[in-house]
Amino acid sequence: MVIIKNVTDIQQYIKNKKALGCKAGFIPTMGALHSGHISLIEKARQDGLFTVCSIFLNPTQFNNKTDFEKYPVSVEGDIELLLNAGCEVLFLPPVSEIYPGGPEQTETYDFGYLDTILEGARRPGHFKGVGQVVARLLDIVLPHCLYLGQKDYQQCMVINKLVTMRDMKDVTVKVCPTIREADGLAMSSRNRRLTEAQRSVAGTIYQCLVSIESKQGSARFAIVRKECEDILTAKGFVPEYVALADARDLTLLPDFEAGRPMVALIAAWIGEIRLIDNVVLG
Ligand code: PAF
Repeated sequence: MVIIKNVTDIQQYIKNKKALGCKAGFIPTMGALHSGHISLIEKARQDGLFTVCSIFLNPTQFNNKTDFEKYPVSVEGDIELLLNAGCEVLFLPPVSEIYPGGPEQTETYDFGYLDTILEGARRPGHFKGVGQVVARLLDIVLPHCLYLGQKDYQQCMVINKLVTMRDMKDVTVKVCPTIREADGLAMSSRNRRLTEAQRSVAGTIYQCLVSIESKQGSARFAIVRKECEDILTAKGFVPEYVALADARDLTLLPDFEAGRPMVALIAAWIGEIRLIDNVVLG
């Protein structure tokens, strides 16, 4: 695996690969890698692409200073995982390579409705930062495919919108399944910050999502939502939202609708840590 820290070198590397007829599969990350990230590398390799993973802890997408300061960093371990996964290129830029003129000079995008609901409403400026960094990374890597995890459902929609807004027809966005721990907890870098006691109840979020899925058609969503909020609260969470939305455009829905593609989404705090997860209703 080659580790490249500056834009000129990675662009040259990718240009050389493309001249040989290779196509890049890109996995953007903020580090603290886990099996969810590794599954994306594996998917890109299965698709026959050469894999480029970036690790860049993007300061502009954190609306909460503590979250940024406490975000887990484990570059040595990440490199080991990427080597074992057969990743070909690790792009590990400093802030000055991503935002040479400072973030204020770097283009941002307006995601409209998507930025006004759920994560957008609770984390002001978050998607602006995500759009800003992903646009910049895409311009640098110019991948054939971009791999994202479904765990960040709304982020996937925002990035899809970004690619459409920027008319990047050569980039295919592939959303891959959430990878879970044995108790259902969605893998996330932030899970590393959970205490043993918090970790022991963290699977409750997924259990609530599964119960929402199983009760569609037999109960009103408002009742199921209240049950989930009560269960989460009893386990020590502070729920932010338990929501139901159209899976295609995230229109929020007051109740289940037979025949409509739907997704259930939860965000909840356990201590200082905010966890999110979702399940597309089958
Ligand atoms: O999901 C993440 O890790 C980040 O939001 C991303 C897409 C790498 C942009 O910084």
